[in-house]
Formats: sequence, C-alpha cells, structure tokens
Amino acid sequence: NKTWEYLKTEKRDNGVAVVRLHRPDALNALCGPLMGELVSALKTMDADADVKAVVLTGSDRAFAAGADIKEMKDKNYAEVYKESMLTAWNEVSEIRKPIVAGVNGFALGGGCELAMMCDIIIAGENAVFGQPEIQLGTIPGAGGTQRLTRIVGKSLAMELVLTGSKFDAQLAEKRGLVSRVVPTDQTVDECIRVAEKIAKFSTPVIIAAKDCVNQSQELSLQQGLLYEKASFWGTFALSDRLEGMTAFKEKRKPNFTDT
Ligand code: CAA
Repeated sequence: NKTWEYLKTEKRDNGVAVVRLHRPDALNALCGPLMGELVSALKTMDADADVKAVVLTGSDRAFAAGADIKEMKDKNYAEVYKESMLTAWNEVSEIRKPIVAGVNGFALGGGCELAMMCDIIIAGENAVFGQPEIQLGTIPGAGGTQRLTRIVGKSLAMELVLTGSKFDAQLAEKRGLVSRVVPTDQTVDECIRVAEKIAKFSTPVIIAAKDCVNQSQELSLQQGLLYEKASFWGTFALSDRLEGMTAFKEKRKPNFTDT
C-alpha cells in the first residue's frame, strides 16, 4: 500500500485492490500529476498476480470534477498539441483487468470520461454526471463525445454535450451509463462485492471476457463474433477451463490456478 500524493490505494487479500482519488481541496480535479499516479497505480495492479479486479472511486462529494481547469487555462495550441494533452489518460482503458468505478457526487467532464473508461460503473444516489466543457468554451477531450454517445445514444449525448447540463444517477441508470444506483454510503462496498465476485474466477479468463466485451465497441458484429469465438476456443488451452467444467460435473467448487 504505497504512499501517493493524490491517491489512496489498498490491496485487499481477496484479489481486489481499491484506488481512491484523493485531492479533496479540488473535488478530485484530474491534474496531470494525479493522472500520472493513477495510471502508474493501475499498471502496477494490472501486473500484480494477486490482483484480479480493481475498484476506482473518489470521495462522497466527488468522483472527479473534471480535468484541472486551472492547469489548462493558460496553455496555447502548440503546447497542448506537442504534449498531446490528455492522450495518456486513455491508458486507463488499456488496463486488462476489470475496473469497477464507484461514483459518488460529481463525475463531470474528465470525471465522467474517466468513469466511462472503467468497465462497470455503480453510482451512489447523489451522483451527478455531465460533460460541461461547452460552458468553458471547449469540448470533451477524453472520450465524452465518443464513449457517452455509444452508451446513451445520439440524441441524449448531443443534448448533454451541447448544453453542458448535469444529469443524475437515475437517468444514468435508465440510459445504461451505470449498472445500478445504491445509497451513497454503500457505493464502495457494493463495488468491492462485485470485484470480489469477479476475483473468484481465473485471471486469464477474466481478461479475455473483458477484452471481448470491449471489442464489441470497436468491431462490426461479424468481426466481433469471430474475435469472441477465437477467444472462447482459446480458453480450451487453459487448465482452468478444464477445471471449471470438471468441477461442475463432479458437483464441487472449482479450484482455479490462473493457468
Ligand atoms: N479544475 C480545477 N479546480 C476545480 C475543478 C476543476 N475541474 N472543479 C472544482 N475545482 C476546485 C474549485 O476551483 C474550488 O477550489 P477553490 O476552493 O480553490 O476555489 C474547489 O475545487 C471546490 O469547488 P467549488 O467551490 O466550485 O465547489 P461547488 O460545490 O461550489 O461546485 C462544481 C462544484 C459544480 C463541481 C464546480 O466546482 C464546477 O463546476 N467545477 C468544474 C466542473 C467542470 O467544468 N468540469 C470539466 C472540466 S474540463 C474537462 O474535464 C475537459 C475534458 O474533457 C477532460
């Protein structure tokens, strides 16, 4: 459990690691150093054989209130182009193990985009989502026009991106942005429960399942079905596939070894 400036991390003993964004004086605004720490922590967990699923959360007041506006304010085009601003954020979506996001409070701009880079979102009743960038004279820059549109559909995404209006946990659930809404004080526990359920399974199979679902966002149906089939057949190269089916036949619990 390393010490970070902007995070609190906890490695639990049941295959679950928890990352909490911790920049309370700025509602977890996602400054460059915070995102650097987050990507670094997630990559370490991804490479850690003891970790099978990750929970990412913020505080009760804010998951994250967006990219750091004060950090961006005085940048010019040449600077943001040369540094490829926000490109490194996408590394969150390249983590191979599942990330369950627990969103309480504000998930605005980059905060909403960060949640959408995760695999499952569970929202607290007080969650507030939005892509308010238009109010700042800019547009979403970390997936808000792309991932949000794929999730909630064109009309609502257009309305949210063009008006900057915030939306609540109930609408987020209705439109499939989040799996479910729970009382705010139970969000993190619920995420941990989901992550623990995942962590009972075989790591290579968990990774393949996440990868295939994510490919559905990239590929045509026919290509996606082929991709899935190849991965499905690939599980027959794993001893955990044989163990899982043998345990079913023998009416016992499987003993997966991640091989
Ligand atoms: N960047 C930098 N600082 C931020 C911030 C942000 N995105 N959001 C909040 N803060 C800071 C505030 O400046 C304030 O700091 P000070 O006390 O030093 O003034 C502190 O956090 C607390 O915020 P407020 O006093 O504003 O709290 P509030 O309860 O009155 O309002 C809020 C909460 C509605 C979330 C409001 O803070 C807000 O509108 N924040 C900005 C939201 C936003 O526009 N996000 C999009 C950013 S752009 C982006 O993300 C681009 C992208 O695509 C990646």
